[in-house]
Amino acid sequence: MPHRAKLRVVVAGGHGKIALTLTRTLANRGHDVVGIVRNPEHVADVEALGGTAVVLDLEHTDVEAVAQVLEGADAAVFAAGAGPGSTAERKYTVDRDASILLAAAAERAGVRRFVQISTTRAGAPAAQGSTPVWVAYLDAKTQAEEALKATGLDWTIVRAGALTDGPSTGRVTLAGRHVPRGSVPRADVAMVLAELVVSGAAVRRTLELTSGLVPVATAVAATGT
Ligand SMILES: NC(=O)c1ccc[n+]([C@@H]2O[C@H](COP(=O)([O-])OP(=O)(O)OC[C@H]3O[C@@H](n4cnc5c(N)ncnc54)[C@H](OP(=O)(O)O)[C@@H]3O)[C@@H](O)[C@H]2O)c1
Repeated sequence: MPHRAKLRVVVAGGHGKIALTLTRTLANRGHDVVGIVRNPEHVADVEALGGTAVVLDLEHTDVEAVAQVLEGADAAVFAAGAGPGSTAERKYTVDRDASILLAAAAERAGVRRFVQISTTRAGAPAAQGSTPVWVAYLDAKTQAEEALKATGLDWTIVRAGALTDGPSTGRVTLAGRHVPRGSVPRADVAMVLAELVVSGAAVRRTLELTSGLVPVATAVAATGT
């Protein structure tokens, strides 16, 4: 991705908790953020943080429509998710299929940089005795990762630990290897995503993220380009 002072970043799932913090972070740094939301009532919340919003239900659209939103963007971030309480079916239609759709649209629109939120539990089957929804969730996240890795995009996968709503600490453990199980505030995940987008670091890398001791900018820089 060329180093430009002002980036245009499209965030799928633009009204999500991480997405809203990411929007505020990037907008405060002078970048343009376009949030894809499915509920028209969410537009004002995105705008209040300095972004703009496009109303598009990623489970009921097509690659052409999403590519239009991505036209001229420098980066795409997949921050959507079916959310707690959703069905196993929606883990597949959102966490897997909407991610695959965004990646296909990014390729169509020529947007190379793609940052994906995933989970530290991805990449391995759910433990025996897990609920069908949890099995589906991990399978959907794993399949989304595999599909993204098969693209020609400049992807980075961020496997976050258990998310909390605690305040940002600005310090994380971020590594291209398995890190001990832990939690991480959504605010710190947003900081890491913003840094990855702006720096262009960690292309074609899968990173694990939990709370830690290293300042975000240092941790991202240490992952390499
Ligand atoms: N919970 C954890 O511990 C954990 C750990 C690691 C990773 N993650 C992942 O982290 C990501 C972000 O987490 P978060 O807490 O910020 O999520 P969140 O607040 O639940 O936000 C997800 C967003 O996705 C949107 N969305 C769902 N279906 C959509 C559709 N069809 N079209 C467009 N947008 C749609 C939702 O919109 P609505 O508001 O309209 O529903 C919501 O705004 C998720 O992918 C999650 O799986 C979670």
